Amino acid sequence: MPGFGIGLADAYIPLLNLITMEKVLVIGATGQTGKRVIEILNSSESFKPIAMIRKEEQKEIFDDMEVETVMGDLEKEVDHALKGIDKVIFAAGSGGDTGEDKTISVDQQGAIKVIDAAKKAKVKKFVMLSAMGADDPSQHKKLEVYLEAKKKADEHLRESGIPYTILRPGALTDDMGLAKVKLAEKLNEQGEISRDDVAFLLVMSLADPLVKNKTIEALEGKESIKSAIIEASR
Ligand SMILES: NC(=O)c1ccc[n+]([C@@H]2O[C@H](COP(=O)([O-])OP(=O)(O)OC[C@H]3O[C@@H](n4cnc5c(N)ncnc54)[C@H](OP(=O)(O)O)[C@@H]3O)[C@@H](O)[C@H]2O)c1
Repeated sequence: MPGFGIGLADAYIPLLNLITMEKVLVIGATGQTGKRVIEILNSSESFKPIAMIRKEEQKEIFDDMEVETVMGDLEKEVDHALKGIDKVIFAAGSGGDTGEDKTISVDQQGAIKVIDAAKKAKVKKFVMLSAMGADDPSQHKKLEVYLEAKKKADEHLRESGIPYTILRPGALTDDMGLAKVKLAEKLNEQGEISRDDVAFLLVMSLADPLVKNKTIEALEGKESIKSAIIEASR
């Protein structure tokens, strides 16, 4: 029986990669961490990023990168953005310059809305960028409202039944990522981590068996991201 010629396989395998690529909705795609996530996903062979944006003028930068976009605002209806999506990375936030009303409507209610829409759309994994301290907001008086909002969103995700990873980094920096981190369910210390490394951790968390249904704190450290994330998955 004639087998497939090598030439045929060469022609089809790249096509197969395109077919099996998982569509990842990035919420907060224009943000400092979200942009990094988009870049990593866009150079991957396993994932196809879809950038959720809320202003028409934000489309151009993604068009230049040949990244698909979908319009969506966390303070409005979001169900349409989840249609046909395999996995989600939530890296949005109202930021430190807005009031408590936006913290509740974006970081808490907006996230909850996306989680509910993701459940309806049968999303296979939801990776949440949370924050260190969200396990016990009362310990951080200045950030209590924000951390309480993150905690409620995280709890909603855990209870949703969607396979998840909740990443809780320390203070984010724009330092160059060295791909060396420290991860644990509870680190019992404060510190920093670069947005580069956080973006890598978020993308690696998309892989199904890794850090599945885990909540992990993250700081810069000495262990390679790869071995730290495998260790944190046990
Ligand atoms: N800063 C820290 O030290 C720290 C520490 C731990 C965890 N975190 C978490 O990490 C997240 C990402 O940090 P970052 O510095 O990368 O954030 P960032 O640059 O402030 O980006 C925030 C993103 O959220 C989007 N966004 C805001 N309101 C929205 C809405 N109503 N609908 C849809 N998208 C909306 C923004 O979109 P636009 O461009 O349209 O405004 C932007 O893409 C933070 O939000 C925070 O929850 C931060």
